[in-house]
Amino acid sequence: MALVRVDKVIREYRLPQKYLFQKASVFRALNNVSFSIETGESFGVVGESGCGKSTLARIIMALDKPTEGTVYYKDHDLFTIPKSELCQLRRHFQMVFQDPYGSLNPRKKVLPIVAEPLDMLEKQLSKKDRADRVKLMLSEVGLNSNDIEKYPHEFSGGQRQRIAIARALITKPSLIVADESVSALDVSVQAQVLNLIMDLQEKYNLAFLFISHDLSVVEFVTQKIAVIYLGRIVEQGETKDIFQQPLHPYTKLLLNAIPDVDPFNKKVKKKREKTRYQIDETSCQFIDRCPEATEICRQSEPQLKDHNGHLVACFNV
Ligand SMILES: Nc1ncnc2c1ncn2[C@@H]1O[C@H](COP(=O)(O)OP(=O)(O)OP(=O)(O)O)[C@@H](O)[C@H]1O
Ligand SMILES: [Mg+2]
Repeated sequence: MALVRVDKVIREYRLPQKYLFQKASVFRALNNVSFSIETGESFGVVGESGCGKSTLARIIMALDKPTEGTVYYKDHDLFTIPKSELCQLRRHFQMVFQDPYGSLNPRKKVLPIVAEPLDMLEKQLSKKDRADRVKLMLSEVGLNSNDIEKYPHEFSGGQRQRIAIARALITKPSLIVADESVSALDVSVQAQVLNLIMDLQEKYNLAFLFISHDLSVVEFVTQKIAVIYLGRIVEQGETKDIFQQPLHPYTKLLLNAIPDVDPFNKKVKKKREKTRYQIDETSCQFIDRCPEATEICRQSEPQLKDHNGHLVACFNV
């Protein structure tokens, strides 16, 4: 049984007021997204800014509800089980956010920060056991057990991210969702944190959902990836297959790092924001940017098809 199964998830948001002249009053941040993550597996999600990565992360963490579809943790449907059961299940999936400054409360010391999930889930722990668990976790992530008395501002960016990882690991989860967790770090620090993540993954047989716009990071840490374009998975498969032979034109563009798809390119970002709500649902969503588009791409939307275990949504593959 898969550890996590995302099943035909759709997430719609109301259109902002200024777009209400459009035919539809909602837009789909996620459209029919399905995939599974096995125990101990590292699964990457890539795609440019605004494609729905964080929306997906929030839904998998049960912090947000899908409009349609659902997510299973083992055989528990996260959105139909009673609240008390969901609360207990939460120990099995934890999240590490992008910003190690914003995600750690600056007024709290490391001890209560790292112990926070324990305080919710293991209220019966004695003070000593609680502190011991935190100290142990700190040493697991390469920090010092004396660090429990310090405040977040006394650490470097990389160390803060280690604190965030310690907090995520303290309930011994089986899945960690890491949303752009190393993006804010310098490249050399990034490498250290990524190595730590990979060591911990092996040691604890952890599954990772690893979200990043940085393809080299995703290639380094994941076994499988899904490429998302405007809320849809357009390509999915083993990381090495996709990096060796990308099949979808969007993945090819991403891998060639053509400036058009550079997520930091402000002009492109602005253009996408403008056209986002005007998409014709009856053609391929990538048509306006696709160098390989043909007539058939105008007529309907391509669905994911299996090409030797590698899923691609493109008529021309
Ligand atoms: N609460 C919300 N209400 C309305 N629209 C939202 C909301 N949250 C996200 N969106 C929209 O959904 C789309 C996907 O957003 P999301 O944050 O998932 O993107 P992302 O892929 O994580 O982007 P980034 O790489 O910049 O973090 C965006 O167009 C965003 O504006
Ligand atoms: Mg995001």
